[in-house]
Amino acid sequence: MKLIQFPRALTALSLLAGLILAAPLALADDFELKGDPEAGKQPYQQQCASCHGNSGKGDGPAARAFNPPPASLLRDELTAEHLFLVTRDGGMAHGLAPTMPAFNRSLNEQQIHDVVAYLVSLRDE
Ligand code: HEC
Repeated sequence: MKLIQFPRALTALSLLAGLILAAPLALADDFELKGDPEAGKQPYQQQCASCHGNSGKGDGPAARAFNPPPASLLRDELTAEHLFLVTRDGGMAHGLAPTMPAFNRSLNEQQIHDVVAYLVSLRDE
């Protein structure tokens, strides 16, 4: 009986380990930008432009007051997921400066998607 149970427990354990290891990867793969760039323009201009600049290049009127200053949000290496997460959770939650505020209270999830879609659309201009 014990001989049968042991491999079973092992199988269950390795399945569990597999699930735990796969979960973060699955989450990363799951991110899908579902924003409307047109709808994101107004919240961006209202809530972000003072620091990040009208065109997202990090040249807003308040930018020089910050150290580090807000960098351009149009850099190719910034994934949509990164833009989304930092906007929602704030800089501190993602190893960046706490002067980048969290917007999870002032913008809902859809609005954050819209703002990110707007930022991605600015890259092409
Ligand atoms: C009060 C000023 C301020 C406002 C308002 C602000 N940010 Fe920021 N943001 C910053 C600063 C400062 C940084 C730089 C943090 C760092 O590099 O450590 C930053 C960084 C970021 C980053 C990370 C960029 C990178 O290089 O990884 C994203 C994304 C971002 N902001 C998005 C937004 C969006 C979208 C809005 C509007 C919803 C917004 N921010 C509003 C100050 C601001």
